Amino acid sequence: AGLDDFIAGLPKAELHVHIEGTLEPELMFELARRNRAPIPFASVADVRNAYSFTNLQDFLDIYYQGAQVLQVEEDFRDLALAYFARAVQDNVRHTEIFFDPQTHTDRGVPFRVVIEGLLAAGKEAKTRWGLSSKLILCFLRHLDEAAAFAVLSSAEPWLDRIEAVGLDSSEVGHPPSKFERVFARAADMGLRRVAHAGEEGPPEYVEEALDLLRVDRIDHGNRALESETLVARLASTAMTLTVCPLSNLKLCVVKDLAKHPIPRMLRSGLCATINSDDPAYFGGYINDNYRAVAPLLGREGLATAARNSFVGSFLDADATAVQLAG
Ligand code: ADE
Ligand code: ZN
Repeated sequence: AGLDDFIAGLPKAELHVHIEGTLEPELMFELARRNRAPIPFASVADVRNAYSFTNLQDFLDIYYQGAQVLQVEEDFRDLALAYFARAVQDNVRHTEIFFDPQTHTDRGVPFRVVIEGLLAAGKEAKTRWGLSSKLILCFLRHLDEAAAFAVLSSAEPWLDRIEAVGLDSSEVGHPPSKFERVFARAADMGLRRVAHAGEEGPPEYVEEALDLLRVDRIDHGNRALESETLVARLASTAMTLTVCPLSNLKLCVVKDLAKHPIPRMLRSGLCATINSDDPAYFGGYINDNYRAVAPLLGREGLATAARNSFVGSFLDADATAVQLAG
């Protein structure tokens, strides 16, 4: 209908997508076959049936298992190229993708294999479709500080091709403070910083991400709304929140899309954006996420979210101006 066409026509940047979360069951089977890697599913339908989650950890367990079919550079290239092609269909002009090196290096896949595959796909997407992309290296927060420092060291030869570091995986019990020194080192290395905070964790974790990790964006941030002073702070500093409606629904962060907090975020002056998080697992790419909240936001709110995505991106001022001009 009218709103769907409006969404399809909006140029967008995607700021919150885990590349391992774009692994569709069909590609999972293809890679399992290519690599002779066992998977605990009999069919694509079987895989999709397993995708029913009651919380973040439930999802993470199955997501880390799925990622095990990724073994050689070509696999990472194919994975990212499939995502880039899909994003282009949704009129995504720029995307900043998370990757979780520890999920792979801990299985013996070298960091180089992961990043070279992703970089090759990024180059190809730029030439084929004019899509620009950046990489955000995420630390798994359920692992320790020493492990995060080790990943950061292994990334050094590629520093000029990594935009930022991020923090993901199991939130509760792993506050941002655990990684204060790692993020300080990343800042010294010239990297920007983002962190998942306030998805399941309390508003204090969002404050820690701001104060201790000195982040440029908050990923999710839903529970920031529980603190009036925090909302005022996020609004006055124009902090970008990368919100993921279908993820929130599937991981039971929200009960019901009709109660999704994004309209309240925008009304409070927060720079909220709309993103897909792990589209292969949550049943929708970026336009599906825009459509999920379209009845709540209307054209004006949807256009604001799309505009916020370019303003909150790590594109430089000139590139942002070009994108906003259409
Ligand atoms: N890794 C992949 N998706 C995630 C999410 N929504 N929260 C935390 N870690 C993740
Ligand atoms: Zn995420």
